[in-house]
Amino acid sequence: MKKSELPDPFSDARKTKGCGQMHDQGDDVTMVLGLKDVRKCAHNWKTFQSGAKPGRIVVPNEEYIRETRQIPFEVDPPAHGDYRALVEPWFKRPLEVAYQEKLQQLVGQSIDEALSAGELEVVSDFALKLQSRALTVLLNIPLEESETWIKWGTHVFRSEDSPVDGDKAKILYDYIDAQIDQALASPGEDLYSVLLSSEVNGQKLTREEVKGVMILTFAGGRDTVINAVTNTIAYFAEHPQSLDRLRQEPELITRSVEELIRYFSPLTHMGRVVTEDTQVCEHAQKVDSRISLVWASANRDERIFEKPNEVVLDRKVNPHVAFGFSHHNCLGATHARTLLKILIKTLSERIGKMEITDHQDNIEEWGEFKRKVGFDSLKVKFEETKG
Ligand code: HEM
Repeated sequence: MKKSELPDPFSDARKTKGCGQMHDQGDDVTMVLGLKDVRKCAHNWKTFQSGAKPGRIVVPNEEYIRETRQIPFEVDPPAHGDYRALVEPWFKRPLEVAYQEKLQQLVGQSIDEALSAGELEVVSDFALKLQSRALTVLLNIPLEESETWIKWGTHVFRSEDSPVDGDKAKILYDYIDAQIDQALASPGEDLYSVLLSSEVNGQKLTREEVKGVMILTFAGGRDTVINAVTNTIAYFAEHPQSLDRLRQEPELITRSVEELIRYFSPLTHMGRVVTEDTQVCEHAQKVDSRISLVWASANRDERIFEKPNEVVLDRKVNPHVAFGFSHHNCLGATHARTLLKILIKTLSERIGKMEITDHQDNIEEWGEFKRKVGFDSLKVKFEETKG
């Protein structure tokens, strides 16, 4: 098996039952596995809500470690739409040329560092740095701020042995509180300041609401982007002919980003809380129980995707749900897609060879399912394009 391969652990359960089961801190969670079922449940917010107690829709459950509601993620329609309309234009800025030029510079810097090191550990020394630097562009704050986030390391919101760690999460919450104080004292053109002066339905956003948006922006865009970047490097290290092809046919890069994101599915699943007795995959589901929408399984559904376990770079029809589905679809998707496109284009132009010299898999455990989502560490040798 290639090191960049991400097997699908959900295949049997998806084909035979359509659902899986896991246990999370006192709750059973029904894992919805097929693409059509995932879409149906994601769309049906009246029965499968996001606006339950803050933290409860996250798997593993975070309700014991935070009280702040993440916005717009833990809000249902119609209020969801009001918040979303407020932040959407900000999160579409990656479509602007000036934004893309900034990302291009940061990607160039990361590739320079890889080439001058010759060999480096991609998760900490490439992906974490690039993700953090790119986030300064999204927040519109000075690049130097990324040094603080890089120092937090890859495990800032969780510890080695526990995926939910209140003490670690507090580092982020305290940091955001301090940043909000600073923006209140001297407002600028950064996301904190913009949110602090914004209104929803004629009411200024409260400090707690601003904090809810900012926590989500940090948490939602961290591990997901780090895994996507690391897996991209691993994939092209082992498929140099694919990188050659994209060098010759750069018009395929947009499609290849969608396909890689489908295949990687950096966010495995996300939960919902059931508001009435109902049925999921033909099984009874009780009010106040939890389900999860398994994006990673839906993206390998053989009823929808031909050759679901292969990366088909020029896949034409690709209705993947790696960025979610319906009203909660990923707000950071434009940023993530733009970053990955620039990364792949730059790799194809500047890198002659990448060789994986060492690696440690990052395996998630969800009840009966063990899923490789990427790497805890990935050592790669980089060589420049000749000529
Ligand atoms: C929502 C995946 C990057 C911010 C989501 C959802 C998924 C997802 C599956 C839907 C959650 C649900 O329905 O419960 C990803 C992946 C990423 C990525 C795979 C990278 C490859 C980012 C980035 C940011 C971000 C870079 C911001 C910095 C958000 C926000 C939401 C969200 C704010 C909630 C949107 C809403 O509730 O309306 N993401 N995400 N994500 N993501 Fe991302």
